[in-house]
Amino acid sequence: MRALIVVESAFGNTASIAEAIASALTEKGAEANVAPADRAPSDPRGYGLVLVGAPTHNRGLPTPSTRRTARKKGAAVPDAGVLEWIAGLDPEALATSRVLAFDTVIKRHSVMAGSAAKSAVRKLGRRGVPAECGESFLIASGAQALKPGEMERAAEWAATLI
Ligand SMILES: Cc1cc2nc3c(=O)[nH]c(=O)nc-3n(C[C@H](O)[C@H](O)[C@H](O)COP(=O)(O)O)c2cc1C
Repeated sequence: MRALIVVESAFGNTASIAEAIASALTEKGAEANVAPADRAPSDPRGYGLVLVGAPTHNRGLPTPSTRRTARKKGAAVPDAGVLEWIAGLDPEALATSRVLAFDTVIKRHSVMAGSAAKSAVRKLGRRGVPAECGESFLIASGAQALKPGEMERAAEWAATLI
């Protein structure tokens, strides 16, 4: 099976989760490709599994404004990310793919913290791409680092997708 992982990351944590997912999928025999969202194909045909990951910003997907805030905090964030990738996507290309979104958050399943994955699922749905809400991975508040065990949890989750 071929898998594509489209990822946006400001401080590197969501990108690390994407790499952990890719390694786990590869171990299970899949061909897994990680693509930064600003360089991901808009016509991603031929992938049985497509995972879309982003950090939660202001309870949803990063926007140009939240990316500017992240830059002020020292992150190196490209101008475009998952929001723009979804907007430019050819929905036909994903007609036969299983599509799931994942994110990084400070608090899982919390109304206050929100979820970039939920937001991605809604936006994909509006583009005619049915997607499932996958896992949220935890960031230690104030530290801009993943909580211990989250890389392992990402690998375990990925292994269930094959
Ligand atoms: C501008 C900005 C807004 C944020 N808003 C939220 C939020 O609403 N909920 C939340 O759980 N985390 C929020 N965070 C923390 C991010 O979720 C955290 O920085 C991110 O998951 C780290 O992933 P990354 O290293 O891939 O950027 C915010 C961070 C930034 C920079």
